[in-house]
Amino acid sequence: MTDASTSTRRTALVTGASAGIGEAFAEHLAARGFDLVLTARRLEVLREVAEGIQRRHDVDCRVIPADLADPEAPRRIFYELARDEIEIDVLVNNAGHGLRETLLTQDWREVADFMEVMSVAWLHFMQLAMPSMIERGWGRVANIASLAAFAPESPGSLYSGIKAQMVSTSRGMRNLVRGSGVHVTAICPGYTHTEFHARLGIADLAQKMPKWMWQNRDEVVAEGWRACERNRPVVVTGAVNKILRSVLAVTPTRLVERQMLKSVADVRSRGRG
Ligand SMILES: NC(=O)c1ccc[n+]([C@@H]2O[C@H](COP(=O)([O-])OP(=O)(O)OC[C@H]3O[C@@H](n4cnc5c(N)ncnc54)[C@H](OP(=O)(O)O)[C@@H]3O)[C@@H](O)[C@H]2O)c1
Repeated sequence: MTDASTSTRRTALVTGASAGIGEAFAEHLAARGFDLVLTARRLEVLREVAEGIQRRHDVDCRVIPADLADPEAPRRIFYELARDEIEIDVLVNNAGHGLRETLLTQDWREVADFMEVMSVAWLHFMQLAMPSMIERGWGRVANIASLAAFAPESPGSLYSGIKAQMVSTSRGMRNLVRGSGVHVTAICPGYTHTEFHARLGIADLAQKMPKWMWQNRDEVVAEGWRACERNRPVVVTGAVNKILRSVLAVTPTRLVERQMLKSVADVRSRGRG
């Protein structure tokens, strides 16, 4: 399959490309002829991902290991790219994780690192990448938010609020660059099969969630990229998630909160059973 964006050789930077949605996004873009810059912390895993992609697709694939909890990481990545005269045409802000505990009990260093990865690094990447996209008259920015952006916060969590900020800021950035040839889209998946829940230590709880609530990562990426190509500000992926978002929009927050608490308790008790 080809589209307008494959007619010249362009380069995509994908954060969190060593696993899950980021890895699938990298594969999807390589299949469309984009050269890749892949970043995440685990260098060996990144190398394996890059080698696999290069075997399957005729694209260049560079890996740059980086911990996005380090505030200097985005600048260092762009410094390395500028040194080698590589310009970024597609930015996929995907790297992310959850926190195991609540704000009151999680070690503060881990909270601060989490905020840097989830709330700051992706803004820095947009500031570093978008001016030259605008200058060249073409660019795509895909920010991986979440269906959680439209839901009340779980008790003591920071996740929904962060993803809501991502949706809101993505909309504002899209309006800022309207007409420039640069698209900005917030992609909002619901439950997606990746390493996310296992890393959070809740793989067993996640498995108890009904199957119809889950998507695979390729579905998320295909719909997300299509929306970005069409310059949609926000896309909630999958029919079930779209329905859930509509229900969330018309249901009083306190009712949703009550239902969330009940669902978590149900899943936990089934987990014990
Ligand atoms: N899975 C879901 O149900 C779901 C639903 C909605 C939204 N999302 C969002 O989708 C995005 C991708 O998550 P996923 O589900 O694909 O999870 P995943 O399989 O755990 O992948 C997360 C990626 O982020 C990278 N990463 C984590 N912390 C990092 C750090 N400090 N510095 C650099 N890279 C880091 C990881 O690589 P390294 O460990 O190698 O650094 C990995 O490549 C996240 O933003 C998440 O919030 C996921």
